[in-house]
Amino acid sequence: MVAKKAKIVIVGAGIAGLTAAYRLYAISHDLFDLTVFEAGDRIGGRILTTVFSGDRIEMGATWIHGIGGSPVHAIATDQNLLEESSCNWERMDGFPSGPLTIAEGGFTVNQDHLARPISSLYRRLMDDARTGDAKSADGHPGVGAYLRQGLLQYQATRTASTNTGLEDDTWSLEALEESLFAMEECTERTCTSADDLSDLNLSAESEYREFPGDHITISKGYSRIIEHLTSALPPGTIHLGKKLCLIKWCSGDGASPERSPPVRLHFSDDSVVDADHVIVTVSLGVLKAGIMKEDGKGIKFDPALPDFKREAIGRLGFGVVDKLFMEMETESREAFPFMRLAFRQGLEENGSMRHASKIPWWIRKTESICPIYRESHVLLAWFAGKEAMHLESLDDEEIISGVHATLEGFLPSIKTGCRIASVKRSRWGTDPSFLGSYSYVSVASSIEDLDLMAEPLPRGKGLEVPRLQILFAGEATHRTHYSTTHGAYYSGIREADRLLRFYNVGN
Ligand SMILES: Cc1cc2nc3c(=O)[nH]c(=O)nc-3n(C[C@H](O)[C@H](O)[C@H](O)COP(=O)(O)OP(=O)(O)OC[C@H]3O[C@@H](n4cnc5c(N)ncnc54)[C@H](O)[C@@H]3O)c2cc1C
Ligand SMILES: *[C@@H]1O[C@H](CO)[C@@H](O)[C@H](O)[C@H]1NC(C)=O
Ligand SMILES: *[C@@H]1O[C@H](CO)[C@@H](O)[C@H](O)[C@H]1NC(C)=O
Repeated sequence: MVAKKAKIVIVGAGIAGLTAAYRLYAISHDLFDLTVFEAGDRIGGRILTTVFSGDRIEMGATWIHGIGGSPVHAIATDQNLLEESSCNWERMDGFPSGPLTIAEGGFTVNQDHLARPISSLYRRLMDDARTGDAKSADGHPGVGAYLRQGLLQYQATRTASTNTGLEDDTWSLEALEESLFAMEECTERTCTSADDLSDLNLSAESEYREFPGDHITISKGYSRIIEHLTSALPPGTIHLGKKLCLIKWCSGDGASPERSPPVRLHFSDDSVVDADHVIVTVSLGVLKAGIMKEDGKGIKFDPALPDFKREAIGRLGFGVVDKLFMEMETESREAFPFMRLAFRQGLEENGSMRHASKIPWWIRKTESICPIYRESHVLLAWFAGKEAMHLESLDDEEIISGVHATLEGFLPSIKTGCRIASVKRSRWGTDPSFLGSYSYVSVASSIEDLDLMAEPLPRGKGLEVPRLQILFAGEATHRTHYSTTHGAYYSGIREADRLLRFYNVGN
């Protein structure tokens, strides 16, 4: 008698799901009946390379965050994805240098005496947070209050330089310092996806790990990492356009009927698939929508997920980060500067009237506008939180006029020199397959929640029901590398290895 193959279903064809599939297949070959179901009409998930105005751009994952030891960097090197490319690509010249910091109203901020001291202050504060040397502000566990306390201490002890070059009399030194500091905070918002930095857990910062070495982009495009992972899978493994709605499983507490195989998956096209194991790799946003029972969104579980899992999903943070690409009209082709924007503070929601500024609120937390490489006429700005969600809802014309108002407010001298012809932006927050961009440890949660996210179901020993019915992978399940492509990659390896160990396959 030939034993029936164990049936493994992977939900989601992002880097976590495809890494799990790659690993399972590479080590076991035909031992398992392996299928990947993906809701969208493409693979890659939050990795998506495309072309805009002739340049190669990334709509999602952009950087290899540190090349020393990164598994994504290892694939990129092995597959020759870092070689010169025929197409110009985002940040082909590395991280931009020599920023021009401009204050709202249009004067250039002195780099040595004003901009740099504030960015050094900010960097020192965040370095302390990362090494665990940071003391939280009284009664406030978030990064937000800690940073503000650092700024106030700095202002109380610095000797006001007479050499700031501050000639604009509508700005005080303090107001300008605050604007420059807010600019740094906006970077933190896009790096972490936390809309409000007071929701970002300060003590969890010290557990986050980064690889050493340069941060680089992939000349052939991030999506080539995805193509590499899928190329080794047998044809027909991946099914697109299959949106999972409901997972039925056997919890072993008497609430669920015995079934063999124990897992039953219901899709939005009414099809049903049975499996021994399912690896769920959907985003934390999709899992949150499921437990909030938002109509038609997310994935439901029957029986419901146990409390420990539901609570971890509920507590962890998952924010929105979007990228806005802007194509300059070709007449204005002189190189656009790496422009950092020091907005006047306190006008985010409705203050624009008071200062007779036409700059809309949703662009007032944008840290910079920068060409995607030095001579490119494609400009990029990053958005986070409320501003990102609003950006997603606007039509192209509204975005273009908002950007023009901003350029006029910051660069009055080039009023007509730079016009935006077209824009392209991501919509990670509203796309039902993601419902956000990446996860962070909120003040309501702790680093342990990431481990709880990774725990398979059913939980507990000596249950009468089959083990490892539901496994969880994805960036939001990695304790020290959450929010990244390599964190997602490691989580896929981890869950594949869990099943391989269970079946005593490989080492
Ligand atoms: C704007 C942006 C910039 C980023 N920049 C970087 C960066 O520079 N460096 C870095 O390392 N990381 C970056 N990231 C994060 C990185 O992209 C993610 O951490 C990583 O790609 C997540 O992979 P994943 O496999 O965990 O999830 P996903 O890529 O989200 O894969 C999950 C898949 O599940 C599918 N799915 C969802 N619901 C269902 C359903 N009901 N049924 C079936 N399938 C479903 C989705 O369509 C998706 O394809 C960025 C992300 C964004 C959005
Ligand atoms: C925004 O408007 C409200 C009332 O409409 C007002 O109380 C508040 O001070 C305004 N905020 C700013 C920054 O102008
Ligand atoms: C923040 O994270 C730490 C470390 O994981 C945890 O101990 C703590 O409970 C969390 N919450 C707060 C409010 O600090």
